[in-house]
Amino acid sequence: MTPITTKMSKIHKLDRKTTAKILRVSAHVLSLYGLALLLLDYYRQNLGADPVREILLRTGEPALVLLILSLAVTPLTILFGWTQLHPLRRIFGLYAFLYVGLHFLTFIWLDYGLNLAYILDGILEQNFVLVGFAAFILLLPLAITSNKWSQRKLGKKWKTLHKLVYIIILLALIHFWWLVKNVYYMPFLYSVIVTILLLVRWQPVKQKGLRFQRRYRNWVANYKAKQVA
Ligand code: HEM
Repeated sequence: MTPITTKMSKIHKLDRKTTAKILRVSAHVLSLYGLALLLLDYYRQNLGADPVREILLRTGEPALVLLILSLAVTPLTILFGWTQLHPLRRIFGLYAFLYVGLHFLTFIWLDYGLNLAYILDGILEQNFVLVGFAAFILLLPLAITSNKWSQRKLGKKWKTLHKLVYIIILLALIHFWWLVKNVYYMPFLYSVIVTILLLVRWQPVKQKGLRFQRRYRNWVANYKAKQVA
């Protein structure tokens, strides 16, 4: 390697490191934004006439969005080769779990006063709640095993276990479709996005995606070369 190429590769590495850091920080800020607003509105007693329902809605939707963001990382890597996005899968996944945990806590505590009999009735007698509860239970092992130690310990089983995310997202969508009344555009929008994200993982589409990635990377390389010249 000539001194110039060594220097260039060092700059490139630094660039990747800085990008990765910026991405991580942005993911944390983005994920915490909804929670910060919710806490602020709670503090200002600005949660409307039915604060419990408001908290349920404002923890449920971010949970779904974060699950979708976590699912979006792999398709973006397939299409554009943005491998720096990989760590964001875990960050978004864990924040999704945090919001679902708060969502569940709101349900059992603020809504049902921690009364076990009422809670069981509330879960078993409303189909949409039962489906949401199933999604929450399936999310638990994923959150617990999201660390590097579990990944090493479980080996190949880790990947299989984390495929549960596909069932979780489907249950979360069913939960949403089931609970909305009359206005279906949000569940529809989320379902379309999830369908696209799942399709990109399907081998025939994935192959096309990888071909697109090669063209995209060539185009970026040519563009950069022109800038230098
Ligand atoms: C992965 C798990 C879950 C996700 C992604 C999720 C997501 C959502 C979403 C998107 C909403 C509607 C928000 C809106 O209309 O803006 C919602 C509402 C709701 N969820 Fe969940 N949820 C989950 C689990 C649960 C669990 C475990 C429970 C209770 C045991 C639950 C109970 C409810 C209730 C009661 C509502 C409010 C319904 C209403 O009053 O309109 N959810 N959830």
